[in-house]
Amino acid sequence: MENIINNIPVTKCEKSKISDVDFNNLAFGSVFSDHMLVCDYKNGAWETPTIVPYQPITLDPSAKIFHYGQSIFEGMKAYKDTNEDVWLFRPMDNCKRLNISAKRLAIPELPEAYFMEGLKALLKLDSNWIPTNSGGSLYIRPFIFASGNGFHASPANAYKFIIATAPSGAYFSGKVKVAIEEKYSRSANGGVGYAKAGGNYAGQFYPTQLAIQKGYNQVIWTDDNTHEYIEEAGAMNIFVRINDTLMTAPTSDRILDGITRKSIIEIAEAEGINVEVKKISVNEVVEAAKNGSLKEMFGSGTAAVVSPIAAFGYKGTDYDLPELENSYASLLKKRITDIQYNRTDDPFGWRVKV
Ligand code: PLP
Ligand code: COI
Repeated sequence: MENIINNIPVTKCEKSKISDVDFNNLAFGSVFSDHMLVCDYKNGAWETPTIVPYQPITLDPSAKIFHYGQSIFEGMKAYKDTNEDVWLFRPMDNCKRLNISAKRLAIPELPEAYFMEGLKALLKLDSNWIPTNSGGSLYIRPFIFASGNGFHASPANAYKFIIATAPSGAYFSGKVKVAIEEKYSRSANGGVGYAKAGGNYAGQFYPTQLAIQKGYNQVIWTDDNTHEYIEEAGAMNIFVRINDTLMTAPTSDRILDGITRKSIIEIAEAEGINVEVKKISVNEVVEAAKNGSLKEMFGSGTAAVVSPIAAFGYKGTDYDLPELENSYASLLKKRITDIQYNRTDDPFGWRVKV
């Protein structure tokens, strides 16, 4: 069945899979909604996007994505309020960041209208896939990869941009215990750490497996040069509260400019919290843990929202964080999700209606 939404041609699936999904027991990103947006880059230009049933894609074994990892992605969410209206959170920031990543990976930049109009059309079509239970949302995964062929180590001549969506619950279940990384690095100066390149995540898996074997859930990434400064927490930015000051590392070549991070900074400042964007040394955090001034650590990201850290390990010692009743993490999580789910005003102008 063919029709048009937001000028985008749509081929609808014959039968929805939605009745197979248990919306009360959703994991993160493991079931996928009925449709996806697909847009091809060929002969030097992005073609008109189309919406088609969610389905496998066929690629040549020589497609450059397989050999040279030319691939980037974004992570965002759609939220449904109690009136069944659908909202996005700062979606243009994701669109712009996708193109920042594209440039770094020598992928042709995508027209912003294809991203925004394509996404809105897809959400209109699959709006019944957006969970309405507490904490649920439709996780949105826009991505671009090199579909062009050849073993020559150079940028491909063809790419695919796809948006797939997955109704999702919480990213982490239970308490998060992290290991401060002393050997491996996620990124380096002059590298691709600031881009959402697929390979950045592949490179994290092995050190993260080692940490999991030792009883941790995630790795706290430190700077590649000295491993003396705390930079990110797994696939999240990191915040540390010492006494009543909330600190986070400045963005750089090595750190993703997280949309949740920059929103948390603005919300915290509006709440009157003292926020410092500065290099955070491991020593300062360990000292603060020892003398009791370390009150909180938490990660921030689209998937994980605000995830409190219960304990961290460093050089063979584990340090527990206190359980606070009125934590900054819970206040900031409430404030940001109230905006995202349209439960309060949005003084920052971040919410966008679909
Ligand atoms: N850092 C990394 C490495 C990430 O992959 C993510 C996830 O997107 C973040 C931080 C958080 O960014 P955002 O808040 O834009 O989701
Ligand atoms: C997100 O928070 O959206 C991310 O992209 C993290 C992801 C690796 C699950």
